Amino acid sequence: MQKLIINGGRKLSGEVAVHGSKNASLPILAAAVLCNSEVTLLNCPKLSDTYAAMRIINHIGYKTGFEKNVAVINPTGECEYEVPDDLMREMRSSIIFLGAILGKCGRCKITFPGGCDIGARPIDMHLSSLRKMGVTINEEYGQLDCCCEKLKGAKISLSFPSVGATENIILAAVTAQGRTIIQNAAREPEIVDLVCFLRECGAEIEGEGTGTITIEGIDELYGCEYRIMPDRIVCATYMACAACAGGDIAIKCCRPHEVDSITPVFEQMGCFVHSVNDTIYFSAGKNLRSVDTIRTMVYPGFPTDAQAFIMAALCKAKGTSVFVENIFENRFQHVNGLQRMGADIRVEGKVAVIEGVNKLYGAKSAAPDLRGGAGLVAAALGAEGKSEISRIHYIDRGYENFEISLALLGADIHRSI
Ligand code: UD1
Repeated sequence: MQKLIINGGRKLSGEVAVHGSKNASLPILAAAVLCNSEVTLLNCPKLSDTYAAMRIINHIGYKTGFEKNVAVINPTGECEYEVPDDLMREMRSSIIFLGAILGKCGRCKITFPGGCDIGARPIDMHLSSLRKMGVTINEEYGQLDCCCEKLKGAKISLSFPSVGATENIILAAVTAQGRTIIQNAAREPEIVDLVCFLRECGAEIEGEGTGTITIEGIDELYGCEYRIMPDRIVCATYMACAACAGGDIAIKCCRPHEVDSITPVFEQMGCFVHSVNDTIYFSAGKNLRSVDTIRTMVYPGFPTDAQAFIMAALCKAKGTSVFVENIFENRFQHVNGLQRMGADIRVEGKVAVIEGVNKLYGAKSAAPDLRGGAGLVAAALGAEGKSEISRIHYIDRGYENFEISLALLGADIHRSI
């Protein structure tokens, strides 16, 4: 089993470039299936999740290429409508292929998606929205057989602005008959990126980035070349790594305004954050301080995906910090690993209370999920002594060359195979 071995206590310095966004590239890869000619995606991150998306595209009958962060998808010819269970289980985002495959061939047979175990993660909103668009769904032995003669536009009001459900509806609606209006749509930048890609392909969509998105169905989408947005969560992860380890780094190729809900937290900790164009200059505070209560929210609020590694930084911050996790019910699994390093954290339901300690100590732990794993790496960089982090396949879902980038910043980290 692969592990990350980290000898903590080395300050970070130098530059790191943020790779393309995982959460934007996955729905865009699914969207590529809807096109009638070749799609080229630039800045596509090489992650186990993007490879999993490629495997789904290959399985349904389309050729792909993936070299040097350029993904090419040729979505022409017959489309196979069934996605086998082993591919569905590889990641949560496999569910996004439902809207795309339905749009392409009018039928899609899938099982329930897998992914990180951070909560129940139901797909009820995805399914009820598609039903409104004329899809008949038969569920038998955990298999969903979804059919429609022609997808029809509909007015859909989401009870919660789910990122995945908003994406699935958009994908089903772009080539549906008539107009679809999504109310209480998710406003995340990754939704905006998906819409920008679809618009390049000829789609007629308005309102992305707001709570109401309107899609006019058109007959066909054509391929295009598109550059995936930078990963805002990876950007925030590097800030947290520097906050934990100390030092000064420049984070390049990012969009500073997309981490606007996160930078004030680092500033309150005593770090210095300054951005110029697409670069964030980050200096860790000498003595970190606790911060006001952090409540995870939908965008533009504080992202649940940043909770684990910001918690890692707060373990050594003087005073008491509190997190309220409002999005996923099982997202404090990294706490155990942090406690093994000497952190003082109490969890009660969706609340975690962190009492800052003077030092963390290297320890053996296992990544519990993608962002929790990144949190353990960040903490280990600032801990005294050696840490071993196992189950790093979770980290590989969302970070390209993570340990190599950190080593280039001066961290003592390597992968043991
Ligand atoms: C996406 C992101 C993930 C991020 C999350 C919240 C991707 C690939 N993943 O996940 O990194 O943490 O948004 O910002 O983009 N829910 C239901 N029923 C549904 C759908 C969702 O109850 O049909 C609930 C979920 O269980 C969760 C909440 O809604 O409690 C938010 O989920 P959602 O926004 O859908 O997250 P994902 O799209 O799974």
